[in-house]
Amino acid sequence: MKTLGLIGAGHIGSQVARLAVAHGYNVVISNSRGPETLTALVKELGPPARAATPVEAAKAGDLVVVSVPLKNYRDVPVEPLAGKIVIDTNNYYPQRDGHIPELDNESTTTAELLQAHLPKSKVVKAFNHIYAAELTTHGQPTGTPNRRALAIAGDDPSAKAVVAKLLDAFGFDTVDAGPLKEGWRIQRDTPGYGPRRTASELKKDLAAAKRYRDM
Ligand SMILES: NC(=O)c1ccc[n+]([C@@H]2O[C@H](COP(=O)([O-])OP(=O)(O)OC[C@H]3O[C@@H](n4cnc5c(N)ncnc54)[C@H](OP(=O)(O)O)[C@@H]3O)[C@@H](O)[C@H]2O)c1
Repeated sequence: MKTLGLIGAGHIGSQVARLAVAHGYNVVISNSRGPETLTALVKELGPPARAATPVEAAKAGDLVVVSVPLKNYRDVPVEPLAGKIVIDTNNYYPQRDGHIPELDNESTTTAELLQAHLPKSKVVKAFNHIYAAELTTHGQPTGTPNRRALAIAGDDPSAKAVVAKLLDAFGFDTVDAGPLKEGWRIQRDTPGYGPRRTASELKKDLAAAKRYRDM
């Protein structure tokens, strides 16, 4: 895996791009307004980076990160992502995203919505519960005591293994929250959402998480 495609280059997308470049990957970044609006970020990232359209970023990425406001997930190109691992960083904020009935009634989860939109891709939920700024400041080498852990969820074990390896390279332990349908355990307002946690702490938080209807 050499190239990360990024669909969304805001707070989280730009930080994942910085981490990727710092760890030897090429990145192809995209947003909604067009590559010409990403000139400053490309300049900062240097030669391993280029800006493109979302379709081009989806085509170019060996692995692709979707980091757009959730309300826009249906804009993510489908065919170029067939067969690929897609990391979903997204969270649901009704005040930003508008109300999505199947999330309000908790019959599905954010990453399951993206998976349904991308039926031929392997969606892995990751990076959704860490503040963007901390992505480039909280990482530590493998084996560091009390290293920060990040949760992942996904239905494809091999895809999760690839993402766990990427997270390790970026400086974080991984806790597997289970299949995508368990991704709610690390959604907004759950204990693990936001604070720095080691793997053992994060496991406890995932176990203690409550559905909104039970809060
Ligand atoms: N901020 C955080 O600390 C944080 C942490 C974890 C997870 N998250 C989640 O990650 C997601 C992104 O958050 P963010 O804070 O990075 O948002 P953001 O700063 O607003 O950036 C959103 C990015 O998505 C792009 N975008 C919007 N609509 C698009 C579309 N239809 N096609 C392609 N690109 C599109 C935007 O491009 P334009 O500017 O050109 O529109 C922008 O580059 C959200 O779901 C958020 O809840 C955020």
